[in-house]
Amino acid sequence: MNVLVIGGGAREHALCRALSLDPDVTALHCAPGNAGIAQVARLHPVDPLDGAAVTELAVALGADFVVIGPEAPLVAGVADPLRERGIPVFGPSGEAALLEGSKAFAKDVMAAANVPTARSYLCTTPAEAAEALDAFGAPYVVKDDGLAAGKGVVVTSDLKAALAHAAACDRVVIEEFLDGPEVSLFAVTDGTTVVPLQPAQDFKRAYDNDEGPNTGGMGAYSPLPWADPALVDEVMETVLQPTVDELRRRGTPFSGLLYAGLALTTRGVRVIEFNARFGDPETQVVLARLKTPLTGLLHAAATGRLADFPALRWSEGAAVTVVIAAEGYPESPRSGDPITGLAEAEAADGSTFVLHAGTRLAEDGTVLSAGGRVLSVTGTGKDVAQARSRAYAAAGHIALRGSHHRSDIAAGV
Ligand code: AMP
Ligand code: GLY
Repeated sequence: MNVLVIGGGAREHALCRALSLDPDVTALHCAPGNAGIAQVARLHPVDPLDGAAVTELAVALGADFVVIGPEAPLVAGVADPLRERGIPVFGPSGEAALLEGSKAFAKDVMAAANVPTARSYLCTTPAEAAEALDAFGAPYVVKDDGLAAGKGVVVTSDLKAALAHAAACDRVVIEEFLDGPEVSLFAVTDGTTVVPLQPAQDFKRAYDNDEGPNTGGMGAYSPLPWADPALVDEVMETVLQPTVDELRRRGTPFSGLLYAGLALTTRGVRVIEFNARFGDPETQVVLARLKTPLTGLLHAAATGRLADFPALRWSEGAAVTVVIAAEGYPESPRSGDPITGLAEAEAADGSTFVLHAGTRLAEDGTVLSAGGRVLSVTGTGKDVAQARSRAYAAAGHIALRGSHHRSDIAAGV
């Protein structure tokens, strides 16, 4: 199969790496890609938000299958013209991707499908926001209705900061605070059948001990040895299947990756958010453990054949990933600096590897930083502790001026 992947972050590097190891893949393309993806796929320049341009590229390359990685093209409806051209696509339609593109839409779907989530109000004026904040009390949770690249959510006990964030957004969802550990559970779906992957945990705050601002994610691990073994079945029954069924009932079936961000509260599992694509950095650890070849799974979802797909196979071990972020991330990341130690960080037996998030190649072949999250250094092992120590040892080889990473990813698990 000739496969085109759209995107250029660590998630797309993880996807391309898995696809490149799959004997079913005869040609692998990525647009726009990054310096790491260039090692496993042929790169092509494209504006990922331009559906016509992406479709033309897919046709020109003779792609049999397109995988769309990030949320922005999905929410922009880039999957739609590809499907109209008869090219199978992994990723939901623009209408179904609203599950991620609008928090208010997601709340509406959850209410209709009886999916447990935080109580919330949709507010469009400062007065409504003030009233909602008062009704729930501190800590306050204020979410921009639209896509905001990980920066749309403010959780604070400072009423002024909560009001200021609400005032800065057009429409906000204000909701009750959910306590308890967070879990990310991904499911592959063709719009009817839902196949859950294994749960992972992400670390959203920038600094150790969950301090600092929210980020796109600073590290992740899988599996979760502390989690109830019945968790996946419960979330399938109460969250994933009812959500997929509701979207199909509305005439906008969701086909692709449904990501449930969950809080395990004392009152039970609650959905924090839905995403319409693989999570980053959780994908790096989930795919590191998936033994079933990825292409067949994603293609079965894209072509409505998941019901017949064999049960997924997983490695018994664990994976941990540590994100190396640029100086100044998340507020004002610095880019354009050389990165060294990449080869040293990768073990010959594949037990550690480096996935590129924001990198590009200089003319002389040097790898340069080109984004906020720069690298995702991944270790695998027999358990979380071994995977963790390998990931940190690998990260220790890498030098990038001013970069920072958390030192407590998967600590004490
Ligand atoms: P989201 O973009 O909705 O995933 O929110 C980003 C992060 O904000 C989540 O991973 C949580 O850590 C936090 N968060 C979002 N909603 C809530 C909530 N209702 N209660 C507590 N924390 C939340
Ligand atoms: N890891 C969080 C996200 O992908 O949104």
